[in-house]
Amino acid sequence: MSEKIEILISEDDTQRRINEVAEQINRDYAGRELHLICVLKGGVFFMCELAKHLVIPVTMDFMSVSSYGDDTKSSGVVRIVKDLDQPLEGKDVLVVEDIIDSGRTLGYLLRVLQDRKPASIRLCTLLDKPMCRVVDNVKVDYTCFEIPDAFVVGYGLDYAQKYRNLPYIGVIRQ
Ligand code: IMP
Ligand code: MG
Repeated sequence: MSEKIEILISEDDTQRRINEVAEQINRDYAGRELHLICVLKGGVFFMCELAKHLVIPVTMDFMSVSSYGDDTKSSGVVRIVKDLDQPLEGKDVLVVEDIIDSGRTLGYLLRVLQDRKPASIRLCTLLDKPMCRVVDNVKVDYTCFEIPDAFVVGYGLDYAQKYRNLPYIGVIRQ
């Protein structure tokens, strides 16, 4: 089966906005080092593009979590599939996410990461669906785009593991 994808945010607009957010991060962390944490797999395209525009010293680590839910909805019960390689203690941490929907996944993740005693922890997301939020402990520090409640793909985001490689953000039209 093949789905029809409609462009929601073009490649140019996506990259321009990521660049703007990177400049904001450069200003906010001037004179400091930043430890980027990518939540796999969806956050990978965004983190690479963001990191290319950061001029402060940056280190990176990756983790993978799996949420027990169906394909399009998370349950809030999260399992760490791949943990970070490096400790967080004393570091200024920026968690880089593809999308925040209900916030359940990140709500859990932030509690886990906070326990590892970073100096600070902030959250950066490519996309946010604020009207879908069901948890209240997820405060987003950097958002590239707020979008309506639609299922989006591309720029790292998948539908049944497909479409992550699209260079733009699209909506599936059945
Ligand atoms: P949450 O726990 O409901 O915030 O869900 C977050 C996770 O669900 C994201 O990291 C994505 O993996 C996935 N997700 C939520 N909305 C979308 C979407 O529109 N497209 C693709 N994946 C999504
Ligand atoms: Mg994700």
